[in-house]
Amino acid sequence: MVIKRVKLNNFRSHDGFVLDCDPCTTKIIGENGCGKTSILEAIYEAMQGKSFRAVDREIVRRGDEFYRVELEYEDGRKTVVMYDGEKKEFLVEDKKTRRLPKKARYPIVLFEPDDLNLVGSSPTSRRNYFDRVFGQLSEKYNVALGRYNKALKQRNELLKQEMVDAGDVFSWDVLLTKYGAELRNERSEYINQISEKITEVYRSIAENEDKIAIRYVSEVESESGFLARLERDFERDRLLGHTSFGVHRDNYEFVFNGVQADGSASRGEVRSMVIALKFIEAEMVVERLGRPPVVLLDDVFSELDETRQKCLVKNFQNNQIFLTSCGSQEDLTGCVALKRQ
Ligand SMILES: Nc1ncnc2c1ncn2[C@@H]1O[C@H](COP(=O)(O)OP(=O)(O)OP(=O)(O)O)[C@@H](O)[C@H]1O
Ligand SMILES: [Mg+2]
Repeated sequence: MVIKRVKLNNFRSHDGFVLDCDPCTTKIIGENGCGKTSILEAIYEAMQGKSFRAVDREIVRRGDEFYRVELEYEDGRKTVVMYDGEKKEFLVEDKKTRRLPKKARYPIVLFEPDDLNLVGSSPTSRRNYFDRVFGQLSEKYNVALGRYNKALKQRNELLKQEMVDAGDVFSWDVLLTKYGAELRNERSEYINQISEKITEVYRSIAENEDKIAIRYVSEVESESGFLARLERDFERDRLLGHTSFGVHRDNYEFVFNGVQADGSASRGEVRSMVIALKFIEAEMVVERLGRPPVVLLDDVFSELDETRQKCLVKNFQNNQIFLTSCGSQEDLTGCVALKRQ
């Protein structure tokens, strides 16, 4: 689906804002705080059903009570998102729903400046990153993740109570191991697929002979082992007040020529690795979902040298791209220039 127009009302600093989109690349330029990322956030919201950076009430323009996003597609279809301060509704083909219907969901590859730090960031950031990528590829993954997190929260709440014993948390242990095993299997499968491709894709960007891999690191080995460990560690978890073992502690490691990339690869090499990862992400979306994702490049273009910029554009030539860039460039031909409100 090609986006033709984006209309925003009370969406962060935007009100009565209309963006006419290019079927290939829409460039949005403006100074800091003029609302560039907010436009990408609105597109993401209407295509994925939620924001990538905030909850709904933070998005409503300060002093107002609702926000509205309308996305018009080239084929005449429309998605409208409305939030009234309490509930969110989607309007697709004259039907109102509380969740974005599957048929109106559309894949997105988002590239944010923070992603460039992925290799050396915290395990939590990497877990969140890959959860978003895998959740888009598989609904089953999303469901397992939601249920795992819910069970974890309930178990942790019980662990904080004074009179809790192992029997009280057992039903949550069972759910954690069930959904934990599903997450472990999918994470491992996807990382293997990425790892198999990443060296070749990296070499096409960096034009050298380096060897790249990504390792999935999980303490959880099997469903039964996970359950036994939760039972064994109950007393320790009770004292800590949280669950200290599980797939919520998983990690992903980037490997550069056989050694851990964090600390050994240069800044440019790390950037090429992240770009390679994005290309593979888009490729996997096409393979699994059969649709080319819309590509949102938030502020990353100016962070990259000319060779890598060209590489990005070439790789995503069959995708609709939205690209933001800071500053007031002199040549604004073909750009949408924003002013701070
Ligand atoms: N709920 C809100 N109501 C009104 N204004 C908001 C709201 N949330 C954020 N803003 C304002 O919107 C602007 C942020 O927009 P956004 O992050 O899209 O800017 P940007 O152009 O991407 O900036 P940068 O170049 O720094 O990344 C800020 O000025 C912020 O104060
Ligand atoms: Mg921004």
